[in-house]
Amino acid sequence: MKPGRVNIAPSILSADFARLADEVKRVEKAGADWIHVDVMDGHFVPNLTVGPVVVKWLKEYTPLPMDVHLMIENPEKYIPVFAKMGAWLITAHWEACRRPAEIIRLIKRCGCRAGMSVRPKTPINKLSPYLKDLDLVLVMTVEPGFGGQSFMPDMLSKVRWLKERRARGGKPQWIEVDGGINSETAALAVQEGANALVAGNAIFGAPDPAKALRALRSSANEAKTHHPRR
Ligand code: DX5
Ligand code: ZN
Repeated sequence: MKPGRVNIAPSILSADFARLADEVKRVEKAGADWIHVDVMDGHFVPNLTVGPVVVKWLKEYTPLPMDVHLMIENPEKYIPVFAKMGAWLITAHWEACRRPAEIIRLIKRCGCRAGMSVRPKTPINKLSPYLKDLDLVLVMTVEPGFGGQSFMPDMLSKVRWLKERRARGGKPQWIEVDGGINSETAALAVQEGANALVAGNAIFGAPDPAKALRALRSSANEAKTHHPRR
């Protein structure tokens, strides 16, 4: 995990679930940094996905860190079991946390890095009190719930705000964007300061996921090296 690297986290939401281990292996070989696992409960978002057992079994097939995104009510109920099954970083939604500081402490106590996410309508400054304790902030660039939606460019101002805060306080280490990320939108997000990119459809929906991942990486690197915003 080199400093300055843009981390690419393919989201298994768009993978072929009947061949999940192969899909993950394929992106691992193509240079993925993390595996993004979208957990949905049918309450916080109108969709249902996977539970801790998927993290457990994927860990048997890949050494990549599991970046677990909880889109669920009452995240405190499930954080310990996700940690036990091998999550490396756990992100909860600010909107689902009655006491965000306690959730962050719980994630860390369970041995994981701590992330917090906001839906598109939530102002990013709601996270101000917690930034010093967060390893990652996940900026939703679509309404959470489904893969394959269009990127919301207005969310870039949240990335910029986080980058400015990080310049002052060193936190959060990772600014992650999630939703509608492809080679073009990845470049925009990286220019504003994002250093972790979640991509589902752009990678697993492509005819050649390895090639799509490499294209995303080169676009992110190009944006970081040649066009950073001041
Ligand atoms: C959406 C999920 C995303 C989703 C992104 O609620 O949090 O991680 O997989 O999918 P794409 O990249 O297809 O927009
Ligand atoms: Zn996600």
